[in-house]
Amino acid sequence: MTKIQPVRGTRDFIGDFARCIEFIQNTAFSNARLFGFERIDTPIFESTGVFKRAVGDTSDIVGKEMYTFLDRGGEEITLRPEGTAPVVRALISNGLTQQLPLKYCYYGPMFRYERPQRGRYRQLHQFGVEYFGVDNPLADVEVLALAKQILDSFEISANLHLNTIGDIESRNSYRIALVEYFSKYRNDLSSDSQQRLDKNPMRILDSKDTNDQRIAADAPKISDYLTTFAQQFFEKVRNGLEVLNITYTLDPTLVRGLDYYTHTAFEFKTTELGAQDAIGGGGRYDGLVQHMGGPAIPAVGWGMGVDRIALLLENRNFKKPAPVAIIVIGDFFEQALTLAKFLREQKIICEIIYKTNPGKAFKEADKMNASLVVILGDDEIATNTVKIKNLSLPMDHPDKERSVNITDLIGILNAR
Ligand code: HAM
Repeated sequence: MTKIQPVRGTRDFIGDFARCIEFIQNTAFSNARLFGFERIDTPIFESTGVFKRAVGDTSDIVGKEMYTFLDRGGEEITLRPEGTAPVVRALISNGLTQQLPLKYCYYGPMFRYERPQRGRYRQLHQFGVEYFGVDNPLADVEVLALAKQILDSFEISANLHLNTIGDIESRNSYRIALVEYFSKYRNDLSSDSQQRLDKNPMRILDSKDTNDQRIAADAPKISDYLTTFAQQFFEKVRNGLEVLNITYTLDPTLVRGLDYYTHTAFEFKTTELGAQDAIGGGGRYDGLVQHMGGPAIPAVGWGMGVDRIALLLENRNFKKPAPVAIIVIGDFFEQALTLAKFLREQKIICEIIYKTNPGKAFKEADKMNASLVVILGDDEIATNTVKIKNLSLPMDHPDKERSVNITDLIGILNAR
């Protein structure tokens, strides 16, 4: 029989790697809390329309990458490819749009049918934040400051790429200029970009095709098409970043792959992951809540690729913490259970070893890297003591093994 394998582009998180992912989540959530973000969890699947409407029909995500299927009731369902659309849907369906401002953060799996490689998965994991109801450009600065604070706490140095894609008016005039420019090169563009030219010409700017990139290098720049309002908005974002000493690179080709952005667009990039260089990205999306059927509500947010951050933390230590092991000599497992409960109530990590052969029991304690072994036998039970054995000390060390009163045990363990 052939061995069953995980689906291509999916992985199991086990051992040190699972602990690394947990550490990333905990760090991200605790930093987000400092900024007033509250956790939100939305379902991992939604009606397909949620993503089609929010992310846009012309995006790669909707066009090529969604896991979409009919459920048994014949409803078209999509596994979420990203987190923003579901959070906006939740805002509207829970009637939260009257309670602004609102700040939400989330962690969870997303699904994209991309070509798997290092740093690119079909089940990926994002930590994200969404800030609703504030049109002040300094809200953009604040969410960027949060991303920076999280990356700093991982000691990851990432380059912040920043752009504005303006308001609707700026984009409309920019679009006309792009269509005029790229139409001259229509036949030289990749077939994907020929389609983009008709549907969403701005996306040609972030084409991965080298020939497209060569043509795009001389394309009109958004900065020449911004309305005064859009220009001033971007100025305020840049000033705010300066106030906080957050450095960035202006990147006029950064347009992001999702259709909902307005004004600020950004990505955090690393040089350490090859082609999968974006470890996070986001921006402002002032039109999205209304576009999805809610009132006009300004918003800004970002999503971070937790799988990619984990790759950057690969060389760190995420070993399982060493437990205290309890070994019984004789049939004292019930007493061991009581002792373990007592230790755990005192926040001491401990594990009972269910081996009756002492040799095998000590081997298992070694294998679990126990910091200390607590032994329960006839004598100990009779005298209300335990024997403690320090596996890391040499055999002839005076503290290698000693008997202690149960009442002194916690003090001794905590003093280590
Ligand atoms: P996104 O740029 O599509 O934005 O994804 C955010 C991050 O998720 C990327 O920067 C990357 O680190 C990670 N990522 C994306 N695809 C993969 C993949 N196949 N494998 C591994 N990691 C991946 C969004 O999803 C927006 N919802 C962000 C946002 C929130 N904008 C506003 N609010």
